[in-house]
Amino acid sequence: MSIAEKHKFDFQTPPQVCKYMASLIPEGTKTILEPTPGIGNIVRELSAYEVTAPDNFFTMERQRFDCVVTNPPFSAKYAHGVPDNMLKDGMRLGYSILKECLKMSDNVIALMLWFTLSDSDVRLRSLKNWGMISVTALPRKTFQYARIQTVVIQMQRGWEAETIFKVYDLLEKDIQHNLFD
Ligand SMILES: C[S@@+](CC[C@H](N)C(=O)[O-])C[C@H]1O[C@@H](n2cnc3c(N)ncnc32)[C@H](O)[C@@H]1O
Repeated sequence: MSIAEKHKFDFQTPPQVCKYMASLIPEGTKTILEPTPGIGNIVRELSAYEVTAPDNFFTMERQRFDCVVTNPPFSAKYAHGVPDNMLKDGMRLGYSILKECLKMSDNVIALMLWFTLSDSDVRLRSLKNWGMISVTALPRKTFQYARIQTVVIQMQRGWEAETIFKVYDLLEKDIQHNLFD
């Protein structure tokens, strides 16, 4: 089985979207956490930085980074080593990982399910209050094996100006999901 085949349900970020996420990293960034790297699509776009990409995010030592770039597992079903107290998070596991990341950096770029923003006013307000620079809607065809609605949330602690809304146009020719494909 090829590496790409083995990881097809890991929902790796397509390389073009990784490049887009990397373009949002603030100037002056040196250290980056990619908390759940999988086969490393995002990590490959971060060669200019000092990157930490743990095998198990839940047990890694908590420390500070200049920036976090993440596409976390959205559900406990697609994650390993999930602590017992987070198993109940189910489809909200991705948000629980994002909350941990917000404690570890003042700059976070996260590919998340749309419902992270849409299904709870309290959560939306809390993210907005933390500091949300932009929200970019990704096309439903972004992931090869599931038509899911996702967004890239660009966050900077203390950002108080308006949040910019963008729509990302993933061209058919750019729907290549892994550099191994
Ligand atoms: C949605 S995929 C995204 C992969 C990668 N971040 C990317 O954007 O291409 C989520 C990844 O989290 C990884 N993962 C699951 N549990 C993890 C854990 N406890 N620690 C680190 N990574 C984990 C999975 O193997 C999977 O590759």
